[in-house]
Amino acid sequence: MSVTVDTRSLAAVTTEALVSFVFERENETGKPVEGVIEELDRTAGGVIGRLADAGELTGKKLETTLLHFAPGLAAQRVLLIGAGKRNKFGTPELRRLAAVAARYLKARSVKNLAFLAREGYRDALAAQAVTEGLLLGNFDGDKYKTEKKNGPLESAVLVGFDATARDGVERGRIVAESQNFARELGDEPSNLLTPTVLAERAVAMAREVGLAVEVLDEKGIADLKMGALLGVARGSAEPPKLMVLTYTPEKAAPGAPVLGLVGKAITFDTGGISIKPALDMEKMKFDMAGGAAMLGAMRALALLKPRVKVIAVIPSTENMPGGRAQKPGDVQIAMSGKSIEVINTDAEGRLILADGIAYAKQLGVTHIVDAATLTGAVFVALGVVNSGVFGTDDAFTERVMASAKTAGEKMWHLPLDDDYRDQIKSTIADIQNVGGRGAGASTAAWFLREFTGDTPWVHLDIAGTAWLDDPKPWAGKGGTGVGVRTLVDLAMNLDQAPASKR
Ligand code: BES
Ligand code: MN
Ligand code: ZN
Repeated sequence: MSVTVDTRSLAAVTTEALVSFVFERENETGKPVEGVIEELDRTAGGVIGRLADAGELTGKKLETTLLHFAPGLAAQRVLLIGAGKRNKFGTPELRRLAAVAARYLKARSVKNLAFLAREGYRDALAAQAVTEGLLLGNFDGDKYKTEKKNGPLESAVLVGFDATARDGVERGRIVAESQNFARELGDEPSNLLTPTVLAERAVAMAREVGLAVEVLDEKGIADLKMGALLGVARGSAEPPKLMVLTYTPEKAAPGAPVLGLVGKAITFDTGGISIKPALDMEKMKFDMAGGAAMLGAMRALALLKPRVKVIAVIPSTENMPGGRAQKPGDVQIAMSGKSIEVINTDAEGRLILADGIAYAKQLGVTHIVDAATLTGAVFVALGVVNSGVFGTDDAFTERVMASAKTAGEKMWHLPLDDDYRDQIKSTIADIQNVGGRGAGASTAAWFLREFTGDTPWVHLDIAGTAWLDDPKPWAGKGGTGVGVRTLVDLAMNLDQAPASKR
């Protein structure tokens, strides 16, 4: 979908659908038809005001009101999305309602729309949020359907924004298309997206946007002594891969941070010998969502060009119960030299990340963020709403949390107290890969921490948030591409002091 900025007056905008949003009234005397919407109402001969008077237009969050052929307007339709209370509104809500509008109109086979800005939301940031929302809402997960339901929206114009909006549209397009790239990978079935194919996709993407890329095969992985990754890969006939993508800025300040992004890319998780039950197992094709998020973020960063170097390390394998598979009780030696007792072969994500983190450190990163669909426990705790966040360096963790907030990705900081460490003590090795029933997300994070040393590190457990089973008004069922927007915001600002100290 093309997104452009237009300066024509309201009445003259010829479009299939003119979209804007309405705030819920703050008190008894307030009314939803005010400001820009009041102007629109006047141009349209009062039809919007009459809907509000009848109680059919309230501005309640994500309420949709559609009008056909309103008088006085060249637009064929007016679509008003409820924005909720104004004091609870911000760019995350704006992004989301733009996505709702896109999905609503797409379902009605509309091909083009105009998005009308509102007071306080006319600048580059607002234009970026709207562009992201529209492009995310326009995403289709129907790649393998021979008959597509309704084609995507083709064009959108932004009306009433200020002169900075064009930059925002450009950034929004890059971010949303990169997030959609991650979503598309998450949706791919595992027979068509093996570690080998994922690596090919990563290489193709890297070439397209100008990133350096290297793919290590089984031999390269063995040369690095990545015993934890190899242990997981043993059970599969598909060979493992390790992807390394590097963005180098034109000029980085001396002593500037080097950001390492480590993503879990299990292209299918059967659980291995500790095999999972059949129910819902098909979902485990999305167990590479952490890796996909890192690929999406790298794509965006290559185009947005932050002033810090960023290195993505993505270990990828299937977790299968083949005849040569590792077995419960096996001991593997990780790249770092630590010995791991594999109590449960289904706790495989932390094993491959252990070696990914060790390798990122060897490549010289000064900060690490990993993203992984790591634990069912984080889904139990936070559902599909918040991703779990763990960290060892409070300042860096706060930075990631701040980026998540700006990017409109909900995240919740969970504990990583020293006391949880006891749960991963092994009788015969340095550590074991599971920590018992309690605090499963925290003990998984502790396992990763064993490999981060003193490098500031944040772990994002996206097991609950990387996939939607029930479609939402702003997104369909499938991969969500969560993490991409947060990581992009983080890298774009990492050369500066944290926002709170600026
Ligand atoms: N990929 C799963 C985590 C997961 C579960 C993601 C459900 C999405 C939905 C991970 O590899 C796993 O199997 N974790 C186990 C760990 C356990 C064996 C300690 C889990 O959470 O059950
Ligand atoms: Mn597993
Ligand atoms: Zn897994």
